[in-house]
Amino acid sequence: MSELFTPFRLKDVTLRNRIAVPPMCQYSAEDGYVTDWHEPHYTGMARGGAGLVIVEATAVSPEGRITPACLGLWEDGQAEGLARIARAIKVAGAVPGLQIGHAGRKGSANRPWEGDDHIPDGDPRGWQTISPSAIALGGPLPKVPRAMTLADIQRVRGAFVAAARRARDAGFEWLELHFAHGYLAQSFFSVHANQRSDEYGGDATGRGRFLLETLAAVRAVWPENLPLTARFGVIEYDGRDEETLAEAIDLTRRMRAEGLDLLNVSVGFSTLAANPPWGPAFLAPVAERVRREAEVPVAAAWFIDAPRDAERVVAAGQLDLVMIGKAHLANPHYPYELARALRIDRPAWSTLPAPYAHWLASYAGPSTGE
Ligand SMILES: Cc1cc2nc3c(=O)[nH]c(=O)nc-3n(C[C@H](O)[C@H](O)[C@H](O)COP(=O)(O)O)c2cc1C
Repeated sequence: MSELFTPFRLKDVTLRNRIAVPPMCQYSAEDGYVTDWHEPHYTGMARGGAGLVIVEATAVSPEGRITPACLGLWEDGQAEGLARIARAIKVAGAVPGLQIGHAGRKGSANRPWEGDDHIPDGDPRGWQTISPSAIALGGPLPKVPRAMTLADIQRVRGAFVAAARRARDAGFEWLELHFAHGYLAQSFFSVHANQRSDEYGGDATGRGRFLLETLAAVRAVWPENLPLTARFGVIEYDGRDEETLAEAIDLTRRMRAEGLDLLNVSVGFSTLAANPPWGPAFLAPVAERVRREAEVPVAAAWFIDAPRDAERVVAAGQLDLVMIGKAHLANPHYPYELARALRIDRPAWSTLPAPYAHWLASYAGPSTGE
């Protein structure tokens, strides 16, 4: 019996298994709009058998993009292409999810394969970044952001709400707020980026305020019967781990009270002076602690793609969902490989659509040749 291949129900949504494709930026949009790249990319992975496919970080405002090639949902026209993707994911049997976010001080950057660094000042492709305080990340991202005013905070919170409404109307059934990875919301939470002296800074309550208010405002427009989730860096691996984790768990509890349905547990990436213990399923015990102490269902990614690890973290009750990223880029039908490796009954029919499953049910793999 595989636990990884049992359905997972959250609100009125049922995933066919515990495998999720986490958001993965494609850096292939034009002015925030979907291009010909996106739909086949997401359709392919949805056909591969995952229960949930979360579309990449989609910016709630133009300056909230990481790069000029990131998706956006700050105007109605951008919803059309996303609606096609949501439909395609659903037709393939997966639940369509969307991550919405704001890049904060990490915005205005070149694509990863074109430098992964800030666009130089004066280059018309770039823009003024914003963040809780005027503190740069440093390294390849040296641009000093403008410290947000209270009006900026209100505007960005409103942009999250407007994007959530558009996502709802576009047919997404799972929403993930990007509160992780050193982008805007994570920067509010992090002492490395937030040195404000108003009510949005200071102690953990102040630093959590933007996240909590944004979640509550989105909850008011996101359907009650559909999962509202967040991805949150609960730990930085910067030597302050216990303190950060305790504060993050406390904030998660408060988000839960405001209607959070699941937390995608991740790393903060708010400082270059961090040293995460990269390794197979290294976040699983952290996620399990969040799950237990904040009493919230959890997911996590980062090297949980080996069949035995993916199965073990679910069976052991550490994770409710396993997020598998790069293995899906390598093979969009990766859940089929997992099903075969875990020797589940009728692996092809359990993961793939009939036009593939019918043939693969009796196919042993490439012939070895001579
Ligand atoms: C190409 C690429 C793009 C990514 N984009 C995002 C993103 O849009 N939002 C996000 O929260 N994480 C993003 N990530 C992180 C992934 O969601 C995931 O956490 C990471 O790939 C680790 O999981 P894995 O070891 O299974 O690949 C991205 C990762 C990759 C490889």
